[in-house]
Amino acid sequence: MKNWAIGNFTFRTPFFLASGTWGLGDSLLKYLTPEEVKLSIGAFITKGLSLEPMEGNPPPRLFETPCGLINSIGLENPGLKTYLEKYYPRLKTLQVPIIFNLHGKTLQEFFEMAEILAKYDVDGLELNISCPNVKEGGIFFSQRPELVYELVKGVRERFQKFLIVKLSPFGPVFEVAKAAEEARADALTVANTYPALGIVSYQPLQIIRGGLSGPAIKPLTLRLVFELSKEVNLPLIASGGILSGKDALDYYLCGAKAFQIGTANLIDPKAPVKISQEFETMVRKYEGLLNKSTS
Ligand SMILES: Cc1cc2nc3c(=O)[nH]c(=O)nc-3n(C[C@H](O)[C@H](O)[C@H](O)COP(=O)(O)O)c2cc1C
Repeated sequence: MKNWAIGNFTFRTPFFLASGTWGLGDSLLKYLTPEEVKLSIGAFITKGLSLEPMEGNPPPRLFETPCGLINSIGLENPGLKTYLEKYYPRLKTLQVPIIFNLHGKTLQEFFEMAEILAKYDVDGLELNISCPNVKEGGIFFSQRPELVYELVKGVRERFQKFLIVKLSPFGPVFEVAKAAEEARADALTVANTYPALGIVSYQPLQIIRGGLSGPAIKPLTLRLVFELSKEVNLPLIASGGILSGKDALDYYLCGAKAFQIGTANLIDPKAPVKISQEFETMVRKYEGLLNKSTS
């Protein structure tokens, strides 16, 4: 696939590996050869990282539904500094751009992480705003466009490379997207998982509350991409139920400029290779249609 532009940045392919769906990332080369990584993956997005380590939620953490997956990982991670020391050096050997997915409990935590990462050789940041701000009584950053503006502006001042804001699919999505654009984000990921609940067992009654991903959410996120593409000028990176080249093409026709592969990795670790090949074939087949959609 020829190089792919996303705003002012260029990637080898338009397919990014979605945050959290490859664990800490060290298993990637167990399943994909370096050649496959090079040919199919535009960037690797790390698991969500915080300033301090987080234990995450007690089990059950994953629950399958007929066409989706509910996860309740609770943002477990070893903390940014440990990640940089223990895991990042090995990931760097993949020779693929690495984007750090970050979440913070306060603006300050986000800013501190951006400052640390500005000193490292990292390729980009993706800000997960679907997390509570403890300074404002636990309200999610994604509920407050003015907070998102402050967040992105502050991170932008500290970090000059590729900066993505990952939208939550609920709340004032359009206002948040515009706030991120005004504060000079480079791209938007549309979107995170949808709040959901599953019944794990009857006796004892056990429920799981978490985020729904996979094919079930694709039509919902597709609509969001379509509507957002008319509201903002930032490149949109689609994330939601991409399991085939056709899914990516659908997003492309609705205005997405790049795609994240998430749950598909958990079904088949070779998914990025298959999806990117299928997409390339479809792009060739529908070249006229694609030109029309972008003109
Ligand atoms: C097991 C699992 C863990 C995830 N962890 C994160 C995370 O740490 N940070 C984040 O921003 N998104 C996280 N996500 C959301 C995915 O990156 C992706 O945006 C979402 O699953 C929708 O895409 P999909 O339907 O292709 O999976 C996670 C999703 C799953 C399934």
